[in-house]
Amino acid sequence: MKIAIACDHGGYPLKQPLADLMQALGHEVLDLGAHELNPTDDYPDFARYVGQAIQHGQAQRGVLICGSGVGASVAANKLDGVRAAVCHDTYSAGQGVEHDDMNVLCLGARIVGEALAVELVKAFVSTSFTDEPRHTRRLEKVKAIEAAQ
Ligand code: RB5
Repeated sequence: MKIAIACDHGGYPLKQPLADLMQALGHEVLDLGAHELNPTDDYPDFARYVGQAIQHGQAQRGVLICGSGVGASVAANKLDGVRAAVCHDTYSAGQGVEHDDMNVLCLGARIVGEALAVELVKAFVSTSFTDEPRHTRRLEKVKAIEAAQ
């Protein structure tokens, strides 16, 4: 699977370890920055890079890391077709994909350590949307909300 990854300065410490992990798991990783630690960079820029990569078909999923994960998810969800959520427990990181077709996992590097982040990413990338009727029906309703904007 092609997976885009990006972070702001708050998420910078986790980006390379998580990119390496996904690569080791056999995924194609698209690193959209930050490519250096810059305390003045802004998470919405990186959320836009990941969201656009998904919109343009350059990636099927994304991992976005900021300090808390919150700003990244707020910004990413502004892009049509992006379903992003902060998940700091492995159940949500997997079930968010299976039930909700979450396509961007947001993490807070000031909240979770590397060991937990690894487990969260493993849960996120190892699952697929379960296209049972109730999940598909709910997803279509989410898409209808988006289309009505
Ligand atoms: C940046 O200092 C910080 O505000 C940002 O990474 C993130 O935590 C926002 O949600």
